[in-house]
Amino acid sequence: MEHGPGAYDVPGRHESFWMETTAETPHPSLAGNLETDVAVVGGGIVGITTAVLLKQAGYAVTVLEANRVCHGVTGHTTAKVTSLHRLIYAELIDRFGSRQAQQYAEANQAAIETIASFIRKYDIPCDFLRKPAYTYAESEEARGLVAAEADAARSLGLPATFTEDVPLPARNYGAVVVGNQAQFHPLKYLLHLASLVPGDGSRIYEKTRALEVQDDGGRCTVRTENGTVTARAVVLATHYPFYDSPGFYFARMEPSRSYVLGVRLDEPFPAGMFINAAGPVHSWRSQPSGAGELVLVGGMEHRTGEDVDTRRHYRDLEAYARSVYPITSVDYRWSAQDYITVDGVPYIGPLAAGHENVYIATGFRKWGMTNGTAAATIVTDMILGRASPWAEVYAPDRFKPAASARRFLVHNIEVAEKYIGGAISRPAGDLADVLPGEGRILMIEGQKAGVFRDREGRVHAVNPTCTHLGCVAAWNSAEETWDCPCHGSRYDADGKVIHGPAVKDLKPRGG
Ligand code: FES
Repeated sequence: MEHGPGAYDVPGRHESFWMETTAETPHPSLAGNLETDVAVVGGGIVGITTAVLLKQAGYAVTVLEANRVCHGVTGHTTAKVTSLHRLIYAELIDRFGSRQAQQYAEANQAAIETIASFIRKYDIPCDFLRKPAYTYAESEEARGLVAAEADAARSLGLPATFTEDVPLPARNYGAVVVGNQAQFHPLKYLLHLASLVPGDGSRIYEKTRALEVQDDGGRCTVRTENGTVTARAVVLATHYPFYDSPGFYFARMEPSRSYVLGVRLDEPFPAGMFINAAGPVHSWRSQPSGAGELVLVGGMEHRTGEDVDTRRHYRDLEAYARSVYPITSVDYRWSAQDYITVDGVPYIGPLAAGHENVYIATGFRKWGMTNGTAAATIVTDMILGRASPWAEVYAPDRFKPAASARRFLVHNIEVAEKYIGGAISRPAGDLADVLPGEGRILMIEGQKAGVFRDREGRVHAVNPTCTHLGCVAAWNSAEETWDCPCHGSRYDADGKVIHGPAVKDLKPRGG
């Protein structure tokens, strides 16, 4: 078994299979000021798909990506292309009514076909395979939930049935299954789409972090470190909006982390994609690879920044995987971050009243492939002045008191507590106590310090106060990052931003 840096007692190589099996993109960084029709901030599935759709409609688009295209959240997905989102439809009907629940179902089903049509049209080799998606019950109680989900999904027009025949050898009590869903290699797909963007006035800039949006109600200007982009419209496709003029989104979503292992079996994996219905997430799919079939097992989610010993999640995931299959090797491990809205449905549409030219697409839970593609379609329709049949259920300004009030309240109290006191990251011990490979919050000379000691014994010390809104970041031992529990900003051991909404690095200790 190979171990990457920082692995020690965790399985697999610390690398996304998707990123390891595709080449880095070569787009330049922005230097100077330019004008465009639409500025798209973020080069993941939402940003790239939106850019392609708008370019097809004759618009000049400029994509700004802080790192490399598709190396953020999209590079760490499990890439299930399905409208079966664990259990959602019975709850959606209850919360939103059948008409809006049907919009959600149709938007996600249509997204599968949008992806399939891009693959056909541009002949994209991306391991796209049609497979059924299962949500299976691991207990007698959950059996009722999956049966109800099958009824709810079918009532909305999805090809859903309840089945006792679940081909995964995990203990189960039946499943809801939706046919003709799909899986693919997300980076092979999206990097091909991204290659279609430059030209005819459209561009992609990488290593170009957007710092601010100025919206005067007519033209919008995105400011970056080395230039500005002025546009008629701005699409914030950054996973989490770094620009939140109304302060609306910061309180209505919570960040969640989950884990993936790429494992090898000594038997074929069944034809399907699988996720359990209740309890800690257990997710399965397979992927063709040069060395044979790779099986991706995922789960062990928790709120970002709330769990310091994150390495144990990889170990627990391996133990779970071995309880289902004889595993011959664990080849890869990676983790992902998702945002969950207070009512479980993404926010897609204009940012807020008074900001009608700034569009948001965020809060996809764990289902970014279809929701992200649907978001690109909806936002493109809005920019083109076309009515979207699915806009209502995703409207960012919706508020369903019955659906979200209680959770919204609890969430806000939690965020406020962390904001004020850094409740999760309490100082503990002295510098001498910090072992190689360990990170901690300490008090040094009367100030909080986030201290990490690397394998060579070097100490990396930062001010752990998040530069977004001032919560105290917590050490993530599995990824060796500082993660903010409030809105999910993430920084490397030296404080460099690797995930927004923060746009500024942590200060060095004493800075
Ligand atoms: Fe918002 Fe840290 S305070 S991400």
